[in-house]
Amino acid sequence: MSLKLGDIAPDFEQDSSEGKIRFHEWLGNSWGVLFSHPADFTPVCTTELGLTAKLKDDFAKRGVKAIALSVDPVDSHHRWIDDINETQNTVVNFPIIADADRKVSDLYDLIHPNASDTLTVRSLFVIDPNKKVRLTITYPASTGRNFNEILRVIDSLQLTDNHKVATPGNWQDGDDVVIVPSLKDEEEIRQRFPKGYRAVKPYLRLTPQPNR
Ligand code: BEZ
Repeated sequence: MSLKLGDIAPDFEQDSSEGKIRFHEWLGNSWGVLFSHPADFTPVCTTELGLTAKLKDDFAKRGVKAIALSVDPVDSHHRWIDDINETQNTVVNFPIIADADRKVSDLYDLIHPNASDTLTVRSLFVIDPNKKVRLTITYPASTGRNFNEILRVIDSLQLTDNHKVATPGNWQDGDDVVIVPSLKDEEEIRQRFPKGYRAVKPYLRLTPQPNR
């Protein structure tokens, strides 16, 4: 069964390019981005993993650990990492799970038989420090993901958790945000948003991004 938002991300133990990983222990108190790719030595996947390596500081700044996955074995991952480093001008600095026995793929529903019986789809999960699934996306094999969008969603989730605001469509860091509809207490609103807010409608209250 597919994972839903708010579900606990299943724990597992599996081999990876950095040795055996017990997932929840590896996550610790961090946020996590677990993403699958169809196969090693494929062009789009090579660019995606290169991008993820280059964004290491951006993930770290947000307290996020990235981890990739395919059903290829560890020795394949090691040989492919050399190619990624060479062609993408980076150093892969996160583990790639070697899910040859499909243990994790089954837990996270990463093989979609009507797309391919053998390859994992391009799925991605954002997991919060309570191990809850906060974002799921699945892309077709032929479309590389936009990892800046993943960072944008993590920024939005962390703003919601820390400041009781939500982010409008196409929001970018620094744009005005909206006060969550459940926050009604005027005193709390005054304290949380000292710069004030603009009520376009009673349910649409815009305020400057509070962590800026
Ligand atoms: C790729 O990563 O380039 C790819 C993988 C599977 C199908 C199509 C493209």
